Amino acid sequence: MSAKHVTISGATGLVGSALVARLRERGDRVTVLSRSASSARQRLGDDVEVHEWDPSSDAPPVEALRGRDALVNLAGAPVFRRWTDAAKEELRRSRIATTEHLVSALAALPDPERPRTLVSGSASGIYGDRGEARLDEGSMVATGQGDFLADLAGDWEAAAEGARGLGVRVVALRTGLVLAATGGALAVMAKPFRLGLGGWLGNGRQLVPWIHLDDEVGLLLAALDHDELDGPLNASAPHPVTNKAFSKAVGRALRRPVLAPAPAPVLRLALGEQAQLVLDSCGMVPARAEALGYRFAHPEIDGALQDLLR
Ligand SMILES: NC(=O)c1ccc[n+]([C@@H]2O[C@H](COP(=O)([O-])OP(=O)(O)OC[C@H]3O[C@@H](n4cnc5c(N)ncnc54)[C@H](OP(=O)(O)O)[C@@H]3O)[C@@H](O)[C@H]2O)c1
Repeated sequence: MSAKHVTISGATGLVGSALVARLRERGDRVTVLSRSASSARQRLGDDVEVHEWDPSSDAPPVEALRGRDALVNLAGAPVFRRWTDAAKEELRRSRIATTEHLVSALAALPDPERPRTLVSGSASGIYGDRGEARLDEGSMVATGQGDFLADLAGDWEAAAEGARGLGVRVVALRTGLVLAATGGALAVMAKPFRLGLGGWLGNGRQLVPWIHLDDEVGLLLAALDHDELDGPLNASAPHPVTNKAFSKAVGRALRRPVLAPAPAPVLRLALGEQAQLVLDSCGMVPARAEALGYRFAHPEIDGALQDLLR
């Protein structure tokens, strides 16, 4: 396969920085769009081409996209925080308006100079709270029913779909809970377990659509490399587990007891509406990745957590 030149927004984040490293390892070229050129260079290295861009104001400079093979759009304000009205507005603007601005920049380029592929972020939250159902890319989504996360992901995908009319292949990466050794939700979730105070959340029966960071990046690369992938792509391990099983696996990986469950009403009181993030059940499965023959490096929760937690 010939080397690619890929532009990435949100490249300084947990997923983006791991993607940049893997693309460079395999000899691809990377251009980064970041709100801060200096912090992007600090995080990613001085030799990365960086274009500073304020996604809240306008479209990015077309020079950051001209002649590139693909655009990967991972920008978005962090979801794990209190969902005040202002925070919700920022969660939406930082994904939806940002993606609309990226699509306008694609539209501003003449056809031969336009990236042919857009891989854009989305989230498992698009499926809503679905009990024990197994949810593949053909399953109904929960948009338009007053579910904040479902609408956030749905509108984010719709903004990316705007590029399709420009002849661009659009893949929406419906990401579950990304597990990494440093950063992301696992570091926070593991803290009470390290103190011997860990437990499952609510009744523990809700399904968690988790994915190891290596596979999240592996699926991003698959989306870039396989022209036959088009539309939604579920990014989660083939075996979603209940929150109780997940918590027990964290306890095993850290060799700590799993003691006190946190009841749902207490979580709702403490966290407010964003308790949805840990209480909703989403049995998302990666049907398209498996049909493509993608081999997960970490298909099972015990192996993934033992790799990540020390
Ligand atoms: N990690 C997960 O478990 C998970 C699960 C589902 C979906 N996702 C989605 O996948 C994408 C990548 O995830 P991640 O964990 O790598 O995210 P992350 O670590 O929070 O990084 C996201 C990047 O977005 C940019 N950003 C932050 N706040 C912003 C704002 N207010 N406006 C515009 N851009 C902003 C930042 O890049 P610059 O400062 O360089 O501009 C940041 O590095 C995110 O959009 C996230 O919603 C992640």
